[in-house]
Amino acid sequence: MEQTADLEIFVVTTPGLEPALCAEMQEKGFAKPVIAKGGVTTHGPWSEVWRANLELRGGARVLARIGSFRAMHLAQLDKRARKFPWGQVLRPDVPVRVEASCNKSRIYHAGAAAQRIAKAIAEELGAPITKDAELVLKARIDDDLCTFSIDTSGEALHKRGYKEAVNKAPMRENLAAMFLRQCGYNGTEPVVDPMCGSGTFVIEAAEMAAGLHPGRARSFAFEQLASFDPAAWASLRGTATAADTPLRFHGSDRDAGAVKMSTANAERASVGGITTFRAHAISDLEPPEGPPGLVIVNPPYGGRIGDTRQLYGLYGAFGKTMLNRFKGWRVGVITNEAALAKVTELPFLPTLPPVSHGGLPVTLYRTGVLGGG
Ligand SMILES: C[S@@+](CC[C@H](N)C(=O)[O-])C[C@H]1O[C@@H](n2cnc3c(N)ncnc32)[C@H](O)[C@@H]1O
Repeated sequence: MEQTADLEIFVVTTPGLEPALCAEMQEKGFAKPVIAKGGVTTHGPWSEVWRANLELRGGARVLARIGSFRAMHLAQLDKRARKFPWGQVLRPDVPVRVEASCNKSRIYHAGAAAQRIAKAIAEELGAPITKDAELVLKARIDDDLCTFSIDTSGEALHKRGYKEAVNKAPMRENLAAMFLRQCGYNGTEPVVDPMCGSGTFVIEAAEMAAGLHPGRARSFAFEQLASFDPAAWASLRGTATAADTPLRFHGSDRDAGAVKMSTANAERASVGGITTFRAHAISDLEPPEGPPGLVIVNPPYGGRIGDTRQLYGLYGAFGKTMLNRFKGWRVGVITNEAALAKVTELPFLPTLPPVSHGGLPVTLYRTGVLGGG
């Protein structure tokens, strides 16, 4: 596979966020993004695979499809897998793990299929096959068509590389970024999160305003591939420099430990200069000086942390603070219970479909600009 090969690229995301990811990909210039179940498809050379990993905030991982052939039975799979040009993508010195799945195919035993493919790679290319290899080759056999994809991300993309400290129930960065986008946030207004936990929303928003790429500080599985070009990657990654922004991003939490954690996470993400974190309860929240923007929050969820009656009080107090003190701002609340959103008494717009957050379906409730009345 040469550098210029036109690969099918599949960016995996959390179900429910495909339209938001697709919009982000359009904005960032990826070729003809098309929504599929659980992700968005685009295509391009290896440099677009790298760029997807580096720049997309909404992705969970990036898969590159490297080839396919028909296989009606295991002997044919074995024979064709042995002829596959593995050396164009994999390196003989880098361990690899093979995962297979079968659907509506004559080959129905995924374990046996994976074993044949692994053996072909080991014997034809010489790459070590290990159970805990970081590099994963995925084989999907659908309607007797075997398709190979490489997971080019490695560690999931919500791991931006700055969050050492996490609080209870942290929001995944890719979900946080897409919820910000669904609230109309595009990096040009201040953001406040008054129950900031480990600071995810505030840091994502600040990075977007500063024009920082989410993947600038981490490594990726594609660096272990035969197609990798360190000099070209260095120049692509080098485009991420923090732009000056007069905007400020504010987090608060009643838990002083959470505030300390958020501050440290923001420093590591190099947005410490444009973020502030303070320890106080929601009832003490005042709008920051300057223009209005977006308040986004995911309060404790029903049935997960805390007791429901207390939560009603908390959501009620949040709604009151917004309605009394945040005129001119928009509000986004992420929660798992419609009844909790309702007690805020905020004028929510129609909701989008729920999104699974750690197995829990959560919904974003959004307002327009809060009025003066
Ligand atoms: C679900 S967590 C938020 C997680 C956060 N979005 C993150 O990504 O880490 C809810 C947070 O609300 C905070 N909290 C609960 N009651 C509060 C109150 N009355 N005032 C301020 N913060 C509160 C908790 O300390 C906790 O950090």
